[in-house]
Amino acid sequence: MQGNEQGLVDISITLNGREQKVAVPADMSALKLIREVLGLKGTKEGCSIGECGACTILVDRQAVNACLVFAPQLDGKDVQTIEGLNREPRFQALQQAFLDRHAVQCGFCTPGLLISVYALLLEEPCPDRDEVIRSIAGNLCRCTGYHQILSGVDRAINPDAEWRPDVG
Ligand code: FES
Ligand code: FES
Repeated sequence: MQGNEQGLVDISITLNGREQKVAVPADMSALKLIREVLGLKGTKEGCSIGECGACTILVDRQAVNACLVFAPQLDGKDVQTIEGLNREPRFQALQQAFLDRHAVQCGFCTPGLLISVYALLLEEPCPDRDEVIRSIAGNLCRCTGYHQILSGVDRAINPDAEWRPDVG
């Protein structure tokens, strides 16, 4: 990472598996870089102050609120957004489990929720209910009431699990 003659910061990131070099203002958020500069609109902008989780991305396999990170902080990092994760079979299975359990309504929260859960599953393939709840504690959903979301995660962890409408 270094400043250039235009007063921008040159950074290099691995974005969804491909190296990406870009010059950014020092105070640009990672969320603005991803959505407005790189055009990846699957990462949503909700509160912009770290409270809704709509902007969740993976940075070095950890779930991060992109609105709370400056773009230059991504220099040298492995960054994955919903567009890249969509190609990974295990992530696809998690998406399908959400669909199977009706965990998606308007869908605005869904990319962030999926990525938060996926970050947990990367570390712990069979988390217990408390671990799942903690993993999505920073992701707000205004539609589902969370029961279907937790049921979707249940299904991803154990595809043979029965539908349990009273989870949560
Ligand atoms: S937009 Fe980043 S947490 Fe809400
Ligand atoms: S499905 Fe609408 S906010 Fe979660």
